[in-house]
Amino acid sequence: MKISIISGSHRINSQSEKVARYVQRTLEAQQLCEETWLYSLAGNPLPLWDEGIWDADPDWQARLQPLSEQLASSDAFVVVAPEWHGQVPSGLKNFFLMWGKGEVAHKPALIVTVSSGDGGAYPVAELRMSSYKNNRICYIPEHVIVRNVESVLNERDADNNAEADAYFRTRFDYALGILKEYAVALRQVRASGATATTTFKNGM
Ligand SMILES: Cc1cc2nc3c(=O)[nH]c(=O)nc-3n(C[C@H](O)[C@H](O)[C@H](O)COP(=O)(O)O)c2cc1C
Repeated sequence: MKISIISGSHRINSQSEKVARYVQRTLEAQQLCEETWLYSLAGNPLPLWDEGIWDADPDWQARLQPLSEQLASSDAFVVVAPEWHGQVPSGLKNFFLMWGKGEVAHKPALIVTVSSGDGGAYPVAELRMSSYKNNRICYIPEHVIVRNVESVLNERDADNNAEADAYFRTRFDYALGILKEYAVALRQVRASGATATTTFKNGM
């Protein structure tokens, strides 16, 4: 079992990456999987999509092949997205344009959104509405909205609001446990052969 975490903030040292690293440590500490992989969009490692991707441009192939292999070998995902101007960062939406070959298809994903204040609902709605059609990632019904993120999930206890921090740690244990069970269950869906199609390359 391999669970991969995508940190969707472009910022270096972002709160989203802090949360993503917490998720990675928790998955490993709770032995919810044998392997994890964390990919951060900090510093914009991927250029904006262009047609070179369709034309087998060697630069794009060199850039995407290692990521494609990591995603294809994953059983489940955690997608961490900050709320920026009420939206998901454009780099994360760009990331979702790259995977149309089944790398993430019919695999469960937990949405985690991050806000320094009381936000975080809009990126949940946006991801559920518009980031899955052709890549066919399966968002599970559970999600986590980390509000007032600066005051929780910090490594130093003194930096945390004790009550809120305890709540989010318990909530993550619960949500990641569910994600793992979906990962087990959806293996069977992929193995059934029902999802294998060359006729319907894209979702409707
Ligand atoms: C460009 C930009 C726009 C933002 N817009 C919002 C917003 O609409 N709602 C909100 O709750 N927080 C907003 N924030 C604050 C983020 O919640 C805060 O930066 C938080 O740490 C998560 O972002 P990060 O993962 O990039 O650190 C914004 C931050 C940035 C950099």
